[in-house]
Amino acid sequence: MINDYFKKRKTIRKYSQQPVDAELLKQLIEAASEAPTTGNMQLYSVVVTRDEEMKRQLAPHHYFQKMVLEAPVVLTFCADFNRMDKWCEASDAVPCYGNFQSFLSAMLDVTIFAQQFNTAAEMAGLGCCYIGTTTYNAPQIAEVLGLPSMVLPVITLSVGYPADAASEPEVERLPIEAIMHEETYHDYDEARIRELYAPKEALAVNQQYVTENNKATLAQVFTDVRYPKANNETYSKVFVDFMQAQGFKIPF
Ligand SMILES: Cc1cc2nc3c(=O)[nH]c(=O)nc-3n(C[C@H](O)[C@H](O)[C@H](O)COP(=O)(O)O)c2cc1C
Repeated sequence: MINDYFKKRKTIRKYSQQPVDAELLKQLIEAASEAPTTGNMQLYSVVVTRDEEMKRQLAPHHYFQKMVLEAPVVLTFCADFNRMDKWCEASDAVPCYGNFQSFLSAMLDVTIFAQQFNTAAEMAGLGCCYIGTTTYNAPQIAEVLGLPSMVLPVITLSVGYPADAASEPEVERLPIEAIMHEETYHDYDEARIRELYAPKEALAVNQQYVTENNKATLAQVFTDVRYPKANNETYSKVFVDFMQAQGFKIPF
């Protein structure tokens, strides 16, 4: 029964005109806030964007991925130590959270919170899409949303009712044996890797992907096209510089 929902769920990138009720959205955010967090500190915030002009301002920083302009609701989930720091300062306690460990705590809290929202929303019949460009252009997104020091935008979700769920792609997963290790980690030799990734590589859609990108293997589409070294390094620098500007001193 548990697997029924999870097996059927998928990312939704096309939305109908049906608006998302404000009360429902609040209920879903409240449900997400029941997720576990570090020391129950709730080191996150979420900024709700419904206004068309605000979406237009966010869109270029998500490289105009159509969901940002077309979804009725866009949510930006932020790792947030600002509220906690202010509470400490108002309570004769000295905040000490501008370090890497605290950053990790806030990242974990916000990720779990966002995913709990995603699950609750899908269970309520909505469709969502994670938009990973948030960390690429965090400084610009923070500016649009007016994020203060100690707040970092890390996850964006577009949310709305599916226009045509059946037409959204169903994406494969690695077999359970690939991801689950009993007692200790059992490292993979090349033959095992080949075996575990073979079904994925054999899918027509993935073979087409290799051809379209003029590559020899599916892995090369990831290393050379989707997530290449130069981009990873550029975005790393942008984000680390921004973390420092926002008050997280890295490495510590
Ligand atoms: C952190 C993260 C970032 C993502 N970024 C994007 C994105 O920028 N654009 C997009 O269309 N999908 C994005 N996705 C959605 C994934 O492509 C999708 O979850 C994955 O292909 C599996 O498909 P499924 O969710 O339908 O099972 C992202 C997902 C995650 C978790």
